[in-house]
Amino acid sequence: MINFIVVTLYVNALECYLKRVSARLKGADVKRALITGITGQDGFYLATLLLNKGYRVNGMRQALAHDDRVHLTALLNDIDFHYGDMSDEDSLNRVVAAVQPDEVYNLAAQSHVGVSFSMPEYTKNINGAGAERLLRAVHAYVPECRFYQAGTSELFGNTPAPQNENSPFSPQSPYAEGKLSAHQAVEKYRDDKGLFAVNGILFNHESPKRGDDFVTQKIVKAAVAIKAGRQDVLILGNLDAQRDWGHAADYVEGMWLMLQQDTPRDFVLASGRTCCVREFVEDVFAALSMPIRWQGKGSDEVAIFLENDKLAVRISSALYRPHEVHVLQGDPSLAKRHLGWSAKTSRQSLINEMIIAAQE
Ligand code: GDD
Repeated sequence: MINFIVVTLYVNALECYLKRVSARLKGADVKRALITGITGQDGFYLATLLLNKGYRVNGMRQALAHDDRVHLTALLNDIDFHYGDMSDEDSLNRVVAAVQPDEVYNLAAQSHVGVSFSMPEYTKNINGAGAERLLRAVHAYVPECRFYQAGTSELFGNTPAPQNENSPFSPQSPYAEGKLSAHQAVEKYRDDKGLFAVNGILFNHESPKRGDDFVTQKIVKAAVAIKAGRQDVLILGNLDAQRDWGHAADYVEGMWLMLQQDTPRDFVLASGRTCCVREFVEDVFAALSMPIRWQGKGSDEVAIFLENDKLAVRISSALYRPHEVHVLQGDPSLAKRHLGWSAKTSRQSLINEMIIAAQE
C-alpha cells in the first residue's frame, strides 16, 4: 500500500514538472497569468496551483531593499518576475502590456486591518485606487483578459452573520474602505466596460505561510515557543472577535474557479464555521498538550496552564482596534452550487499543520 502511495506521489510530481516544462517550451498557446502580491501567502498557493495546471506564471513584485520572495524559494525558476507597484500607474501599464496575461489575480494589498488605522491614506491608495489603476491597465492593453480581485469579508463589518453575496457592506476600517472602492471598481469595469472581472469575497484563510502579525500565526508561533521554553507568555488583544477561518490552499482553488466560469460573478468563499480568538488559543494549546483555563474579564482576562498554574496568555489593550468587526461567518452556498467549491480543511487540521511548520 505504502509503495503504491509513493509511486502515485512520484507520478503526480512528475506530471506537474512536465506541465511546467511544457509551459515554458510551448510559449504562445499556454495560458499566461499575472499575480500581483505574489510574495504573500496566497501568492505562493496560487502560483503553485497555476504552475501545476501548466500556466506560465508572472508575478509582480515591489522594488525593495531586501528580497521578499522567501515563500517562493522553490518556485523562483518557474515564475517570471516584474517590478511594479500598485501606487505607480506607469509600472502597471508596462507590466500588463509586457505580459499580455489571459488572467490577472490582484492579490496586492496592505493586508493588515489593524495597521490600516495607522496608515489610512497609504492603505486606501494601494487597496482601492491601486485596484482601479490595474483595472484601467487591463482594460487598455488586454480587454479580453479575466480579472480576479481579492475582496474580503471585512467589507461586511458588523452586518449580522452569516454573510453572503447579498449581505450589506459596512466597512469598519481604512482597510475595508479601500477594499470597498476596489469592489465597486470591479463592478464598474464589468457592468459598464464589459471586462470579465470578479470579486472573490474571501473570509479569513490561514496556513504555515501566514504572516507573523496575523492572529492565528501569532498564537501558533507563541505557543510553540512557550512549549520550547523560548517565550514566557502570549499577549493578545480582543479575544471575543469571531472569525471564519479556513486554509489558504483551498481558497486559491476558488479564485481560479471564478475565472473559469462562462459569466463573471462575485462569490463568497468561506468555511461556514466560526469561532472566537479565545477558542482558537485553547485549540492550539490543547494540540500541544498544554491545556489552559481562563479567568477574569475584559482586559484583566488571563489564561493559566492547568499543569502548573503559570500564566499562558494576557491582554494588552494596546492591541485592541479602534473599531472591531465582531462576528464573521460566511455562507458559501453559492460557491458550492455554481463552482462546486467548498473549504475542505478542518480548523484542527489547519492548526496541526501550522504547529508542525512552526516547530521546524
Ligand atoms: N493581528 C492580531 N494580533 N489580531 C488580534 C490580536 C493580535 O494580537 N489579538 C486579537 N486579535 C483579533 C483582531 O482584533 C481580529 O478581530 C482577529 O483577531 C483577527 O485578526 P487578524 O488575524 O489580524 O485578521 P483580520 O480578521 O483582521 O483580517 C484578515 O482577514 C481578512 C478577511 O476577513 C486579513 O487577512 C485581511 O487581509 C482579510 O481581508
